[in-house]
Amino acid sequence: MQSNLINKADKWYMDTYSQFPLIITSGSGSIVFDDKERAYIDFTSGIGVSSVGYGNQGLTKAIKEQAENITHISNLYYNKPAAILAERLCSLTKMEKVFFANSGAEANEGAIKLARKYSFDKYGKNRNNIITLKQSFHGRTITTLAATGQDHFHKSFYPFTEGFKYVIANDIDDLRRQVDDSVCGIMLEAVQGEGGVYPLEKDFVKAVETIAKEKDIAIIFDEVQCGIGRTGAMLGYENFNIKPDIISLAKGLGGGVPIGAFLCNEKMSKVLGPGDHGSTYGGNPLVCAAANEVINQVSQEGFLESVKSKGEYIRNYITDWQNENIVSIRGMGLMIGIELRETIKVKDVQEKALEEGLLILSAGGNTIRLLPPLNISDNEINMGLIILKDILKDGVL
Ligand SMILES: Cc1ncc(COP(=O)(O)O)c(C=O)c1O
Repeated sequence: MQSNLINKADKWYMDTYSQFPLIITSGSGSIVFDDKERAYIDFTSGIGVSSVGYGNQGLTKAIKEQAENITHISNLYYNKPAAILAERLCSLTKMEKVFFANSGAEANEGAIKLARKYSFDKYGKNRNNIITLKQSFHGRTITTLAATGQDHFHKSFYPFTEGFKYVIANDIDDLRRQVDDSVCGIMLEAVQGEGGVYPLEKDFVKAVETIAKEKDIAIIFDEVQCGIGRTGAMLGYENFNIKPDIISLAKGLGGGVPIGAFLCNEKMSKVLGPGDHGSTYGGNPLVCAAANEVINQVSQEGFLESVKSKGEYIRNYITDWQNENIVSIRGMGLMIGIELRETIKVKDVQEKALEEGLLILSAGGNTIRLLPPLNISDNEINMGLIILKDILKDGVL
């Protein structure tokens, strides 16, 4: 029977989400609790947001202290948490400048504006196309939907922003075919998250780098899902030994508060001037104080190595009991995809997991996606994997 709260929400929310009938009231580590105090192992971290888990003492303290001081002041004035975060992000990424936004889509919008203006200032009109990849996901605004290389997102909302071309991921020939003098940017996810947890191949990224350098095309890495430790490197692109011109961040950067950012290198650093871009909330002291604490924790010695080894442990564990229900296991660090046999519905697996006390995500390509908090404990991992193994065992589905 549905609770009053769920009935209320279903009556008043726009019908944009298909929600599971679970009311989450609190969390601790990588476990969340519902309104009846039942515990669930969380392999979702709020879709890659709660990077340092729930009830994290350092993060709670940082938010509480900042809230007691001041939460918002606008970009008419300076504030200390934002300035500190700007310096730290630039030094972590070896970038020159940062702009603070509030979400991944907004960060990508800014990144696209920057790539286009760089090109416009230098080469004039008609060099404004951005190449993105098929199966990519870049957000839900009209422009970032247009950037997203999945046809089913390109319905109903016409007219979309012009100027996007889609290349088949890891297909160097297709890339060469589509790069022409109209292209000013190439936008990539190191691992396609929503699209099905597909990591890029090294040769493809190398080809992007070569072509982009040759033609002065901006390389944009969308690090919204892969960034801030998720793949076991601080930024996803580090796995490919490449230096992008622009990167976007969001999700895990705030550990649960809404923040986005885009950064650029020296070449792009003077492109945006007064009035070219802005955000009322962007860089507010509350979210920046939270992000500073997330960066503190993720930068601690051994943290990224532990993300890598936990990811490897999970992938090996699943590989060991892999059966005919599982087609392939993909991913990097704690961004893991388990592709299921076509006849199995990922939604059914999610519902079964929920019944058994485990939260998991879906992704394209009939894939279960796991994005647990980056500091998930070994015990929490094992508890979740036991549930998952039981659900995916032969004969059950
Ligand atoms: C790679 C990537 N880019 C952009 C976005 C959009 O982020 P947001 O929902 O914060 O706008 C997402 C969200 O899933 C994402 O995974």
